[in-house]
Amino acid sequence: MATQDQLVIVLDFGAQYGQLIARRVRDLHVYSEILPCDTPADEIAAHHPSAIILSGGPASVYADDAPDMDARVFELGVPVLGFCYGQQIMAVKLGGTVGHTEVGEYGHADLHRQGESRLLGDTPAEQTVWMSHRDAVSQVPEGFSVTSTTDVCPVASMEDASRNLYATQFHPEVRHTQCGNDILSNFLFGICGLEPTWKMDDVIDEKVAQIRERVGGEKVILALSGGVDSAVTAALVHKAIGDQLTCVFVNHGLLRKGEPESVERVFTQQFGIPLVHVHAEKRYAELLAGVTDPEQKRRRIGGEFWKVFFEEAQKLDGVKFLAQGTIYPDIIESGARKTGGKASTIKSHHNLIPFPPGVHFELIEPLDHFFKDEVRALGTALGLPDEIVYRQPFPGPGLAIRIIGEVTPEKLEILKNADAIVREELDAYNARLFEQTGERNSEHSCWQYFAVLPDIKSVGVMGDERTYQRPIIVRAVESTDAMTADWAKLPYDVIGRISSRIVAEVDGVNRVAYDVTSKPPATIEWE
Ligand code: XMP
Repeated sequence: MATQDQLVIVLDFGAQYGQLIARRVRDLHVYSEILPCDTPADEIAAHHPSAIILSGGPASVYADDAPDMDARVFELGVPVLGFCYGQQIMAVKLGGTVGHTEVGEYGHADLHRQGESRLLGDTPAEQTVWMSHRDAVSQVPEGFSVTSTTDVCPVASMEDASRNLYATQFHPEVRHTQCGNDILSNFLFGICGLEPTWKMDDVIDEKVAQIRERVGGEKVILALSGGVDSAVTAALVHKAIGDQLTCVFVNHGLLRKGEPESVERVFTQQFGIPLVHVHAEKRYAELLAGVTDPEQKRRRIGGEFWKVFFEEAQKLDGVKFLAQGTIYPDIIESGARKTGGKASTIKSHHNLIPFPPGVHFELIEPLDHFFKDEVRALGTALGLPDEIVYRQPFPGPGLAIRIIGEVTPEKLEILKNADAIVREELDAYNARLFEQTGERNSEHSCWQYFAVLPDIKSVGVMGDERTYQRPIIVRAVESTDAMTADWAKLPYDVIGRISSRIVAEVDGVNRVAYDVTSKPPATIEWE
């Protein structure tokens, strides 16, 4: 936990949206971190928070295993703001009641303000908010007034300004809530008197200090994958402890053209970080020989990675810590959400690393409270180049799942060359859009783009000769989070140039096809 002058603590009740709250607060330049909902009040007080926010959550407050909180939190003299479940538990703990609404309320709702409200401030009398609930406060606790309603919800927000307690049934942290940011700003700046002074650079000093204190004079290793998360972790840990960090880069030969060289250049030349480049290309080629099933490929590649990594790690003497680029969404995906999203379940993620018998390292995960774009901002602040910070998502199993069927050296060579052309052309296309719009992921930018090599051959004609060679499929999608994606509506001249260049420049390819399927029903990758 940070030692910021101004800290907002978010108590996590297992929210679907609540994980976003800390993020939104940081977007408003105030530092925020998450704690499990049942953290005792004196432990919370020890962090000297300037404000406390109670997140939403999927449970009903009256359920047997409903996430609970220490009611003394309301007596700390610190302003408290609750959202959704946070409003309901505030009501119940302070003597109000919660009941079922006749119908649930999900999605957009029209909010009608009533009376004075410090929280809602000068936002409009009628506004659109985002709701997601079945239960709602039916009677507010003594001292509270109802400050808004919807047609379904009798208490859409409530407050007791004399005790500095505020709550909304709706979700101000969700973009669909029209005045969400204004409401959060009213709370942070108007009610709590905070200043919007926090910036990403402060995180670096903070994290550097924490890492130094924890590591002392010990040694740390880190598995560098070429991706942004491990790269930012490496740069951060290196800033903290210098050469006590060794990075191990397992090169499985399935990265894109030029990538291993780029990783080596940035880390050894620019940052001067000791780097062990493990050439495991042959080992992986043997492991994948004859394997055609996509899941089998994934399992073999993933399992081998840790084997190779730990073999190297054990060659280094006296290493106590393993630094990892775990980010907040990884924790959610690894099951925290299923178990109620309490921050305490973060620890379960640690068990995912298959330490060999007798081997154990303590983990350092300095990015585990951050979202991807915050990690990128941190990377830039640490001096990492755009080629790493804005690297598009790339699957762990690498090009192996973009070669349909068996992976062979010949196919890998073709795919790497074709993929390099797709990237070169679409990097340039994205850069043009960025120049025009000032946004990195604007309406028509491609979010992920690559070449796929199917397991077929096709007839063609080059010069006077008939050819029987491989086709390449170009996949380019627009997306924000990979959960859904649409095929990119690329200009014909861009598609045309990619096609002519691939056929002219890549030996063994005589045809190019463009994938025009969205996700769903297709996935982004082909395997
Ligand atoms: P799909 O193909 O499921 O991909 O639409 C969604 C996102 O996840 C990436 N992806 C993977 N990432 N290991 C990974 O680390 C994998 O096995 C894997 N499969 C897909 C994909 O590139 C896309 O960004």
